[in-house]
Amino acid sequence: MGETFAISKYPDADKIINQLDRLIKEPIYTIHPNKLQDYVENYFNQKCAKSKALIEEARKIIPGGVQHNLAFNYPFPLVITKAEGAYLYDLDGNRYYDFLQAGGPTVLGSNPTEVRSKVIELLNDCGPSTGLFHEYEYKLAKKISEHIKAVEMFRMLGSGTEACMAAIRVARLATKKKNILKMGGAYHGWSDQLAYGIRVPGSKWTQANGVPRNCFKYIQEFFPNDLNDLEKKLRLNKLRGGTAAVMIEPVGPESGTRPLHYEFNKGVEKLCRKYGALLIFDEVVTAFRIGMSGAQGYFGVSPDLTVFGKVVAGGYPSAGGLGGKKEYMKYLSAGIGGGGKHKKALVGGTMAANPLSCVAGYYTLCEIERINAPQKAGLFADQLIAGLQRLNEKYNLPFVAFNQGSICHLETVGTMHFSINWSKPWQIPGILKATSERKKEMEHMGAAYMAEGIVTLAGSRLYTSAAYEDKMLPDILSRFENVFKSVAVKA
Ligand SMILES: Cc1ncc(COP(=O)(O)O)c(C=O)c1O
Repeated sequence: MGETFAISKYPDADKIINQLDRLIKEPIYTIHPNKLQDYVENYFNQKCAKSKALIEEARKIIPGGVQHNLAFNYPFPLVITKAEGAYLYDLDGNRYYDFLQAGGPTVLGSNPTEVRSKVIELLNDCGPSTGLFHEYEYKLAKKISEHIKAVEMFRMLGSGTEACMAAIRVARLATKKKNILKMGGAYHGWSDQLAYGIRVPGSKWTQANGVPRNCFKYIQEFFPNDLNDLEKKLRLNKLRGGTAAVMIEPVGPESGTRPLHYEFNKGVEKLCRKYGALLIFDEVVTAFRIGMSGAQGYFGVSPDLTVFGKVVAGGYPSAGGLGGKKEYMKYLSAGIGGGGKHKKALVGGTMAANPLSCVAGYYTLCEIERINAPQKAGLFADQLIAGLQRLNEKYNLPFVAFNQGSICHLETVGTMHFSINWSKPWQIPGILKATSERKKEMEHMGAAYMAEGIVTLAGSRLYTSAAYEDKMLPDILSRFENVFKSVAVKA
């Protein structure tokens, strides 16, 4: 029997893009300031007092008070003490529906016993790391390559960021070309070169504070959904020594915030073959979330290199890896003196491929497969999105709700739907100002959801997991409704 995926019906990308185009032309719709004030005073200050006190202390020693980019700073970050299934609990004992899911790795829900018990067993036996080889490194690699055809070999690394860095190093070594073409707006971690064109397509270096511009000499971006633009740039690169790789997020930049046409990935694959560039699929979010064979299985594409992260260690630390065809993976052969006569890519990491991440990853994948977690989470997401769309209509709001399986988007301000056109440079400051103003309101919406017991990713994205059950849906939607009821045009 064929694999069932998380995506039950591929979204109509044009329809969603039109809605998003309309959304960013609308004035900002956001939580009414009086209601926001009410949430701050009567929820955060009253019911989250212990979190508030701890964060005030933490701010003295930790920049901003928190260590993680996905923690909400408005009005102050909450201190989470317990995570279980679909729920999170804070220091004051409040319970939340968890749609952040640690940023994506916990497709099974938080802290599943099936994985935890195996991790504890391993910790009792050998502790988290030895710096040598552990059998679970092999078991995890084998499991991944059994499910993903294009992954003939796999090397575990410390994070998605590191795996993306490794991917472009391998591509450059294998092709002896230097240029990398990335999809505008896509996020491939925070390494110097891949900070180019993040969040907003066309933004080039403008979002990469702290990175000198000459780091971007061999990296360019192309516009999502635009194969002509990609081909134009591939052709141009022929005059500049060729393209080593084209790198994409297969559901669209920022986990599909701008969805792609179904045929787009195949089109990119064809162009890569035509111009001799490697195709790199960044499946940090999509692998084992869209399905066991990843987004590449769903779209029927065979990338040369696949980047892994997040789910690959099931929410445990050191989640990253690179997989691909043998002829390319040979550049990643590790170990002292190992690896044949060819050059090796510079790749490392003291904590990369530690037994703890590998055992957690292995049993996470076994359990995802056993219960078909991608499909379960995807079906719940379909219902959640349908419910949010009904609420948008009921309250006559321009918000855009859509999903690709268990990756859900609830765009209230459309911050990442802007793009920059360098042939009209006078527009750029206005666009950057509009995106930051809208982002502020996205944070306010995020705080409002939080006060209603719903944790989102940055106020605009929601990951569902297999821990969600249909019976939770009415309660979840009524919490969203409490927020939507109090939305007004920003004065
Ligand atoms: C598509 C994608 N690639 C790469 C990364 C970077 O992974 P990490 O945060 O593990 O460095 C992320 C992280 O969110 C991501 O979403």
